[in-house]
Formats: sequence, structure tokens, C-alpha cells
Amino acid sequence: MKTGAALISDASQSHGTAYTLSERKKLGLEGLLPPVPVSVEMQAEAALETMRSCDTLFQKALFLQSLHAANETLFFHLLVHHVSEVLPIAYTPAVAELCLNYSHCWRFPKGVFLSWEDRGRISEVLENVPQEQVDMIVMTDGNRILGLGDLGINGMPIPAGKLGLYTAFSGVQPSRTLPITIDTGTDNEKYLSDPLYLGHRHKRIRGEEYFAFMEEVIFSIKKRWPGAVIQFEDFGNENAFKLLDQFRHRYCCFSDDIQGTGSIVVAGLISAARAKKSRLSDERVLFFGAGEAGTGSADQLVSAMNILEGTPLDKACQKIFLFDIDGLVTSHRPNLAPSHLPYAKDMDPDKDLVSCIRKIHPTTLIGLSTVGSAFTNEVLKVMGEINETPVIFPLSNPNVKSECTPHEAYVATNGRALVATGSPFPKENFNGRVIVPRQGNNAYIYPAVGLAGLLGKLPSIEDEDFLIASRTVADMVTDEDLAAGSLYPPFERVREVCRNIAANIILNAKKKNRCFIELPEDVQGWVKSQMYEPIYK
Ligand code: NAI
Repeated sequence: MKTGAALISDASQSHGTAYTLSERKKLGLEGLLPPVPVSVEMQAEAALETMRSCDTLFQKALFLQSLHAANETLFFHLLVHHVSEVLPIAYTPAVAELCLNYSHCWRFPKGVFLSWEDRGRISEVLENVPQEQVDMIVMTDGNRILGLGDLGINGMPIPAGKLGLYTAFSGVQPSRTLPITIDTGTDNEKYLSDPLYLGHRHKRIRGEEYFAFMEEVIFSIKKRWPGAVIQFEDFGNENAFKLLDQFRHRYCCFSDDIQGTGSIVVAGLISAARAKKSRLSDERVLFFGAGEAGTGSADQLVSAMNILEGTPLDKACQKIFLFDIDGLVTSHRPNLAPSHLPYAKDMDPDKDLVSCIRKIHPTTLIGLSTVGSAFTNEVLKVMGEINETPVIFPLSNPNVKSECTPHEAYVATNGRALVATGSPFPKENFNGRVIVPRQGNNAYIYPAVGLAGLLGKLPSIEDEDFLIASRTVADMVTDEDLAAGSLYPPFERVREVCRNIAANIILNAKKKNRCFIELPEDVQGWVKSQMYEPIYK
């Protein structure tokens, strides 16, 4: 057992100034701490005060990062008990600042870098990782970080931040999480010519060589930690779908961008249909942005219409329209991407969003494009003209990339729109009515899916698991939430949401013979008992 200076320097064990006088005597801490002990609540109050006093998001994020490196329990206490205030600093939008400045202000070793230059000896490199037990891995190659593009190894704060949310929301032990960044180069010219960039300065490795390298990476990880669940995060469009196909039926792994986003979008659409007293299959949905998140969401929506409402797959696909950087996705498009094929319509090509909306008459417009302010006043007004209750989800992150603000959507539709955003926005006071546009953030989904894979020892994560997650989230939206224009439960309930999702996925997997462990009678209670709590022990 650690005592004295060694104890308070160990972030995973330290209680900082919260040690009582008798604990200080017993543990050799007398004189090593400011004399008066405080409670964790008082520590949290002081930390929040300091965080609030920082001028910029970046400074706030750095403060939180240093707190995490000094006192893990206090960091997670803040994230769990002050989630609405701390989440935007611990993850989006502030994490974007940490990424953009990563190489120039690297301070704490956190996570593992696996480089193309180390191919053939990845197992050897992984031997340097001190953790004997790793349960949850989030991995990126930095190719498409948030809506910011190729940030190379500067993307490391993303897997590190996501794993923080795993611990805070689904209670995965922090000591058993491992962020991994794959360095296969970068095509970002700025970094290629920046002598302070900390990754290898060469263009990205592509094609066969890339996938063979990833095979070695995943094999080596599974050799060292066979039970670990792997989440793929922010891989580029050209690789993300193939990687998922390469590994999804062999290992317990999933892509948050493709599957997690789809799941949270479907949850919001189930709530919107409930508010409108309609069915998912009655909606006509136009996705503005047809990359990983857009087509992943379209696929999940089709499967929801099919499984929940019995709509045949081809009929469900007819309800969905894609629009990307080249305009409306039509069957006349040369070199149609396989992921676009089911949704390509026999219509004339059109690059104008307003004109497409007038032709298609969508009930729902979903932004997953990375193009900030793309939903202009004209776009929003047309949605309001053709719908009594238009559903408008500007889901791109961070805030500056949001296709519109909730305020703009409410103003253009006279407060009739049902809105969910990707990044956090404040509530609105519109004509005397308080509207709370909650976040359609996959942070409700992936920590729970990972937890289910882990506790249920599932051999793989299947599409139906994400559908169960969508339904569980939607079921937790109350009538009061809907009355306030909220399509998701408040983030304050995120641990309860994650617990329910994980339990429901495990129970369903057991029913379908995909879970091979003995389950206790009270699966909910058991899941809860396995979750890390940020309390001093
Ligand atoms: P991606 O790069 O795979 O796809 C972007 C898509 O937008 C492509 O289809 C592209 O053609 C299209 N696009 C780009 N410029 C356009 C323009 N001017 N007009 C029309 N379409 C345009 O990126 P991915 O992974 O699909 O992510 C997109 C956005 O969604 C990002 O900002 C990301 O932060 C956000 N996102 C939000 C999530 C949430 O939970 N709210 C989860 C995952 C992603």
C-alpha cells in the first residue's frame, strides 16, 4: 500500500486535500498537504470556480486535463455530478482545441502510439504498456477528427476523452481503459511542414498495406488483452467501412461514427415520431452529408423501420434521400459508392439543397456534413413551409460546424421545429415558451454498448444491439421532455441510460444465444454493481 508522497502523487489513488486528519496521520501525509481537510464536494466547488475563471475553452480544457492527471476521482466526480457544465470541456467542443494544439503543448504521457514504422513488431511495442488488464480500447488513426479533418497523431485527445466518458457514463474502470492512436502518416500539409508536429511526417499509407498493418495491430492487441472491446473512432471515410467489415464478426468491436451515430439519430427520430404522433416509416428523411455518420444513420433507420414497424427494406430505403458535396445522390451518378447504392434515387442530379427540399418534401432534415451554417434561413423556412412540425437535426460537431443553431431553426419555423444538435446549445426562450434542444450525441450510446460487450463477454457487437440502444434511449424520454421540445433524456440521466442500455443488450443477446455467461436474476442491478463510482475509498 502506498503512503506519503508516493500516495498523493498517484492520481489514481490520491484524495488530495480530502484526506481527514486521522487518515493523514495513518498514511504519513502530515505536513504534505494544506492543513485543513475539505470534502470532495468542496474540492469540486473550488475546481469549478477555477475552470469558470479560465478565459478560453482551451484553457478550461487544459485545467481539466491537469486535474485529471492529479486526482482521477475528483475529475470523474466533476464529470458525473456536473455533467452539463463539464462535458463540453471534457469532450466536444473543447477537445477540438486540445487536438489542434496537441503537438505544441504535449504534457502528459497518456495512451499508446502504434506507428507504421513499427510494423512487424507491434506485439513487442505493446509489451511496454504497464496495464495487465485492459477492458476497453478506443482507437483512432486521426484521419477524420470531429469535423476538423486529418489531424494525424494530434487526434489522441479524442480516444483519451472518449474513454473518460466511458468511465464517467458507463462506469468502466479508468485503470482498464487504453486510448490508442495509429500513426500511418498524415496528409495534412500544415503538419507535414511543421517541425514541432510529433507524428511521422509522411503521407498516409493507403490500400492493402494499410489494412495489412491494421490486421497486425488488432491481432497483437487481442493477443495481449483477449477480452478487450475495441471502438474504432474517427477513421477516414475511405477506411472506416472496410475496417468495420474486416473485424466486426471476428472480434467484439464497433465503429462509433457509423453505428453509434445511427443509433442516437434513430432514438431522436423515434421521439420525434412520438411527439408528432406518427411512425418512423411515415417520415421522409433527407440526410445532408452522406459520409460515415450520414450513411451509417440511414442504414440504422432502415433497419429500425423494418424491425420495429415491419416496413419492407426496399420501401424503407425509398423514404431516405442522401445529399453530399456533389448534390443529391441519384442513380445517374457515376461511380456510386456502395454505401449510397440503396438510397440513390432515379431523379435528376441537383446541387441545390432548397430545390431538392421543394422536390422531395422531406419531413426531416439531418445535417451530418461538417458544413457550419449550411442550413440557411431559406432552407429552414422551406422546411417550415412544407411541414407543420419540421424535424431538423444539425448534428455536425463542434458548434461552429453545426449546420444551424437551434435559435435559427426556431425563428425560421416560428418555434414549430423539433430540433436536436450534435454539440451543446443553450435552451431558448421563444415567445414565452422555454424550449430545450438537447444533444443528439452518441455519448448516450457507445459507452453503454461497450459496457454490454464487456460485461456480457459478447463475441461481437451486432446491428440489433444498436437498435436496442435507440429504443432504450427513446423509452426514457418523458412526456415533460417532449413538451419542452426535448427528444432525448437530460444528460444528467446518462449513467441510468447507459445502465439500462447495457442490461437490455445483454438480456437480448442471451435470448438470441449470443451471450454465453450465466446471468444473475437482476441484470440491471448486476450491471449497476459493476460500474465504477467516483468516490474516495
Ligand atoms: P465524413 O467526412 O465521412 O462525411 C461528410 C459528408 O458531408 C460527406 O458525405 C461529404 O460529401 C458531405 N459534405 C461535405 N461538404 C458538403 C457540402 N458543402 N454540401 C453537402 N455535403 C457536404 O464525416 P462523418 O464522419 O460522416 O461526420 C460528419 C459530421 O458529423 C462531423 O461534423 C461529425 O462531427 C458529425 N458527427 C456527429 C455525431 C453526433 O453524435 N452528433 C457523431 C458522428 C459524427
